[in-house]
Amino acid sequence: NSDETNYRPNFHFTPKNNWMNDPNGLFYADGIYHLYFQYWPYGNTWGPMHWGHATSKDLVKWEEQPIALYPDRFGYIFSGSAAYDAQNTSGFGENGQAPAVAIFTYHDPVKEKEGKIDVESQGLAYSLDKGQTWTKYDQGNPVIKNPGVHDFRDPKVNRDWVNNRWILVIAAQDRAQFYTTDNLKDWEYLSDFGVGIGAHGGVWECPDFFPLKVKGTNEVKWVLIQSLNPGGANGGSGTQYFIGDFDGTNFTLDKTFAQKLDREKAVWIDYGRDNYAGVTWGGTPDKEYKRYFIGWMSNWDYANVVPTQTWRGTNTTVRELELVKDGNGYRLNTVPIKNLQNYITKTDVEKKISVKQNTVLIPEGKTDLTQAEISLTLKNLKKETYTLMLSNTDGDELHFGFNNASGEFFIDRSKSSNSTSFHKFTAAVSKAKLPGIKKKVKLRFLLDKTSIEIFYNDGEMAFTEIFYTKSPFTSLSIEGGQKFDVENLTVNQLNFN
Ligand code: FRU
Repeated sequence: NSDETNYRPNFHFTPKNNWMNDPNGLFYADGIYHLYFQYWPYGNTWGPMHWGHATSKDLVKWEEQPIALYPDRFGYIFSGSAAYDAQNTSGFGENGQAPAVAIFTYHDPVKEKEGKIDVESQGLAYSLDKGQTWTKYDQGNPVIKNPGVHDFRDPKVNRDWVNNRWILVIAAQDRAQFYTTDNLKDWEYLSDFGVGIGAHGGVWECPDFFPLKVKGTNEVKWVLIQSLNPGGANGGSGTQYFIGDFDGTNFTLDKTFAQKLDREKAVWIDYGRDNYAGVTWGGTPDKEYKRYFIGWMSNWDYANVVPTQTWRGTNTTVRELELVKDGNGYRLNTVPIKNLQNYITKTDVEKKISVKQNTVLIPEGKTDLTQAEISLTLKNLKKETYTLMLSNTDGDELHFGFNNASGEFFIDRSKSSNSTSFHKFTAAVSKAKLPGIKKKVKLRFLLDKTSIEIFYNDGEMAFTEIFYTKSPFTSLSIEGGQKFDVENLTVNQLNFN
């Protein structure tokens, strides 16, 4: 059907059928990466939540698995996380088989209807076959009771390798709360963070909290990832982050990061409109020192009405988060997963193109732009606007680039989508303040049938947006007012068959 040919992504995960939102339960064991997800198996809009499941060997290609968790008497299965408990700290292991442990939110629709406050509590399930099938911890659930806050959800467990125990972060309406345990069952409340700090245009959801080494050093900082909806960088859903220190009880902002927050109000994992509820894998073969991130490539402003029918919901490409320190302090760089390289079938490089006002970078039909990775360096830039334009012969266009006078990045998808039924989707141009006026800018972007993921200057900033064109984009051009240079234009054709 037309859904499949027009819109089913080539390399971004989607369920075969029906509705998906947040990624959940990310864990790694024995060569397999697990991805669970908020899933409504009986329809293509949001409904009573289950956990769907998919697995991958390389974080690029995914294979869907049977549903992992079904609602029960405590309620729907909302977002949550999982850990591979290799040391059997939980005691759920049997016959030498280490358990995987999942911690998730129970959302009780009955209490909700009755107008109660304590609608959400945290449940636990364990798996003795490395994540294929799960047993709910009936004797102990809920393992974290509702403290009297209506929005109390999305627990994310991580190994705290600094203090050698487990750490959990959960969203409690307008703050993140931290808990710790040695056995994954008996959770002790530590502290909270966030009241009056960062963006608060909506309820806080789906946090993640982990130690990370500063790239190229042995220095450790703590990162808090915090989604919220609405109130995102460009409206609707968005994901911010914080960098600081953790003394075992309290998380405090790094001084330079606090100054950055004073200036910018919020620092975002992604400045586009379609990267939400993202969380990370830890405990991968690289031990705890690397963090791989995946988000839901949509936005609650329009997620239920995007024009696919068979399924609805797509994930971002997996990205590595790098903690980088420079003269301005700390930040997270976002870099597409290296394994994408293994899917390159052809590379075209142009060392230098001198542009006078505008030029075609990829002529009509030369590259399959529904599975491609493109990078380029713009040089000799002036204080004017530089626009890249994807187009096809059906009149669809996607514009993105930056105004180098005002120092602003933009994505304009107003002409990109074969739909007038979801106004909020096409209406606005997404914008983000850039770190300053530049002589030189590097851009790298990944293209699939319905998405673009742009990485600015080695991942200093990311911009992810979806679109629904009448037919695929077939050419790429660039425009700037005066003379400038494009160097190292690299067009990687990818193939996932
Ligand atoms: C975020 C979210 C979570 C919740 C889940 C329900 O998108 O609202 O806070 O657990 O979706 O599906």
